[in-house]
Amino acid sequence: MEIIIVRDADEVGRVAALKIASVVQRDPEAVLGLATGSSPTGIYASLAARVAAGELDFGRASGFALDEYVGIPLEHPESYASVIERDVVVPLGMDASKVRVPDGRASDIEAAVVDYERAIADAGGIDIQILGIGANGHIGFNEPTSSFASRTRIKTLAPQTRADNARFFDDPSQVPTHCLTQGLGTILDAHEVVLVAQGSAKASAVAGMVEGPLSAMCPGSALQLPRRATIVVDEAAAADLQLADYYRYTYANKPVWQRFE
Ligand code: F6R
Repeated sequence: MEIIIVRDADEVGRVAALKIASVVQRDPEAVLGLATGSSPTGIYASLAARVAAGELDFGRASGFALDEYVGIPLEHPESYASVIERDVVVPLGMDASKVRVPDGRASDIEAAVVDYERAIADAGGIDIQILGIGANGHIGFNEPTSSFASRTRIKTLAPQTRADNARFFDDPSQVPTHCLTQGLGTILDAHEVVLVAQGSAKASAVAGMVEGPLSAMCPGSALQLPRRATIVVDEAAAADLQLADYYRYTYANKPVWQRFE
């Protein structure tokens, strides 16, 4: 894991966007794994600004959303299909036909999740997976005790996750109880991952992910396993990291040839 601690939320978005930009510049047909929620909005805004400036082109890239709610209509403004369209596809100029979201409205959920996994495999796998982390340590909606081998499937949202996401809905009771999410095994298959976290509410989850034991109780700790995981956090989210000074020192002394920013 590479841990990058930066000043504030804006800087988290800017630095993580540079990482993603470096992948798309190397391979314009890159396959992106797309998180939703508040955490990655700075990444998408930063990438969109570079697209608008003519510095980046996502026209040939493709994408797979990390997750989707079950039980709300496609056109609901908080369905992740709507969020991905609004926050990612349009501002980045992606080809909508190359961006998929798990089908939370499918009458046959079992078939839909198998189909989603097959589509990822057919695309050659995910080149870079963008992630946030929940206050309880979830990544995607792989709530605590999710199997590290899990694939895309239906999950029940933890009560804390529903409470955290109530801010996106008019009434907390409207937050769906279920979702489809890429599994931890799906996420671990990505060629590389970049996870962003901002704010003190994420400090404990970030510490568990980076320095805690590898444990299904903190699904984010699965990111100790892949060869390439970049974690970009602000000072508040880094507050519980025991080795924060070491990560700062490592980043400050990173060889020039390894830098992406
Ligand atoms: C979103 C997702 C979730 C969020 C997490 C943090 O697609 O899979 O894991 O990344 O719940 O949410 P925010 O960013 O809203 O704090």
